[in-house]
Amino acid sequence: MEEKIVINGGIPLRGSVAISGFKNAALPILVATILTADVCVLENIPAIRDVEKTFEILTAMGGRVKMLGRTTVEIDTRNIECGSSPLELVSKLRGSTYLIGAELGRFGRAHVGWPGGCDIGNRPIDQHIKAFEALGATVTTDGGYIDVIAENGTKGNSIYFDSTSVGATANSILAAVLAEGTTVIENPAKEPHIVDLANFLNTCGASITGAGTDVIKIKGVSKLHGCTYSIIPDMIEAGTFMIAAVATGGRVRVDGVIPKHMDCLSAKLEEMGAIVEEIDDSLIVSCPNRPERTNVKTLPYPGFPTDLQPQMATLLCLANGVSHVTETVFENRFKYVDELQKMGAKVRVDGKTAIIEGVDGLTGAWLKAIDLRAGAAMVIAGLAASGTTCVYNIGSIERGYDNIVEKLRSLGADIKKAYIAPAEEAAIS
Ligand code: UD1
Repeated sequence: MEEKIVINGGIPLRGSVAISGFKNAALPILVATILTADVCVLENIPAIRDVEKTFEILTAMGGRVKMLGRTTVEIDTRNIECGSSPLELVSKLRGSTYLIGAELGRFGRAHVGWPGGCDIGNRPIDQHIKAFEALGATVTTDGGYIDVIAENGTKGNSIYFDSTSVGATANSILAAVLAEGTTVIENPAKEPHIVDLANFLNTCGASITGAGTDVIKIKGVSKLHGCTYSIIPDMIEAGTFMIAAVATGGRVRVDGVIPKHMDCLSAKLEEMGAIVEEIDDSLIVSCPNRPERTNVKTLPYPGFPTDLQPQMATLLCLANGVSHVTETVFENRFKYVDELQKMGAKVRVDGKTAIIEGVDGLTGAWLKAIDLRAGAAMVIAGLAASGTTCVYNIGSIERGYDNIVEKLRSLGADIKKAYIAPAEEAAIS
């Protein structure tokens, strides 16, 4: 039976919450262990479905995955076989694209099913392919699979990206660390998870400089070794809790974050009248008055993250005045607006921009978690609304949020998971 999240809203969140490891760093780093052909211990791994699926993929490929605690995992990739990832698993998550770079780097070839992930618009891989070709590989995409082969091994080269892509940048790094010679990546993504991937690989003996800047330089090495490495905190999970604190008029201490990663969101929230205090690796967020309107435009890091756009738009539904939210990274990331309208939100989408007229309050409703981040936005809407909200399709939320229901309950929210009754199933289908 399918589950739903039930929220009795209107309670200000209060207390502290510990942030888990970053999904978008954990996925490429888990896959990058393939390049070591050794044993790695990864700490601060989030307990989320996308990570579980990645464990399943690595196991199916001949790897050994052993939990050493709730958030620490030991991975042995010595016996991994190239091209053996099951299509039914890789087609469920976006992070599986990283298998292409990792297999190419280790074996000189790759055979991986077409990746899945959130349906937030067309998600081409032309920039990934361009990078693999620059490194000397031939790429074919037939019958639902991507096949890459570097007959004479991968060779370092210059890669210039036409647009900023997190996935293509990570994949180029994976494919280049063991290549012969030096690779220079221009116009790479600068996201903290790119830096974390490079730091992990450098700990394994790679030679990568410039991650997080406009140019990444990779000197190929002949071999990597295993290591112990701790994943950075999840800036999107942290941002989700910060926004939820403001949306409910509460006061939340978000613990275990890198405050610098949150600068863009903190500045926006402050612009809206919120107070964001920084104490070491914690941020304390509150908003004494009704939040004021603002405009938001999503951009690659250090700009406003597209993965916080639905949560921020939901908050702006309750702000004083008219806000504009412009999405420039993904072409189809406003599908959740219909759900917010069910609660009384006044939102209209015009091309890449959502025009949001703040209302005094939202009312509880049945809401679909359209995708991972939109799902988190629906939870925020339910927390802030009066009455009861039921969020369904919650598998998409659990793909990327570690224990979200328990964490919110510890902040005083009236929230629980429950099975969807047969009569309710008819209402939501
Ligand atoms: C990653 C994140 C996702 C986040 C996104 C942007 C993971 C598993 N997912 O997704 O949560 O929302 O970064 O921060 O880390 N593009 C092309 N050609 C390509 C590749 C991308 O045109 O070859 C376009 C995409 O369609 C999109 C934009 O570039 O419009 C950004 O995509 P990209 O940064 O690659 O996102 P992902 O790596 O898929």
